[in-house]
Amino acid sequence: MLLHIPEILTAEEVAEFRRRLESADWTDGRETVGPQGAQVKRNQQLPDASPAKAELGNAVLAALNRSPLFFAAALPRKILPPRFNRYAGGGEYGFHIDGSVMSLSESEQMRSDISCTLFLNNPDEYDGGRLVIRDTYGEHSVALPAGDAVIYPSSSLHRVEPVTRGERLASFFWIQSLVRSDSQRQMLFQMDTSIQTLTAEDADREAVLQLTGVYHNLLRLWSET
Ligand code: NI
Repeated sequence: MLLHIPEILTAEEVAEFRRRLESADWTDGRETVGPQGAQVKRNQQLPDASPAKAELGNAVLAALNRSPLFFAAALPRKILPPRFNRYAGGGEYGFHIDGSVMSLSESEQMRSDISCTLFLNNPDEYDGGRLVIRDTYGEHSVALPAGDAVIYPSSSLHRVEPVTRGERLASFFWIQSLVRSDSQRQMLFQMDTSIQTLTAEDADREAVLQLTGVYHNLLRLWSET
């Protein structure tokens, strides 16, 4: 499921992120990928040791916590500490697939079920830089306003087009979901959304209660904790 999640960060938060990122030390993005990725990746990232990466990453996690839409869609179990990248001067990342298992710490690993890109500047500030996601329906090209995020299955091939004017700033990270299957997660999300709508419209309470029960029982059946 490809989903646009608007307004993860407020305009004030975006401005603060941009101020911090301007004075941060960036490093070559090839440091965090394997040899295949390194052949097609040309961008910059905040290094793991960067204090800005840790502090802004925590701010992203706190912002995600405020988003019911993110929780309903991702059903997160583990989230990799957010990273930050910058594309400029023709920088791009050719078609690739994200790693399937990632280290959270020396003793803990996670599976990447969902990839997330949180845009930190507006599409009119750069040319190119679209996130292109390929699935069975074709290719989807994504560029969102600053503060908005997109989530998509980590199983999809994707790329970032060359940035030929200005610079593109984003945070990106992966989520291990309670529900591994994208199609099961999508059905749960649709059911959750429908229950919210029915509740808001004061629909028959017994029917809503029963549907809510089905939602939780499916989540019980499909979730891994
Ligand atoms: Ni990727």
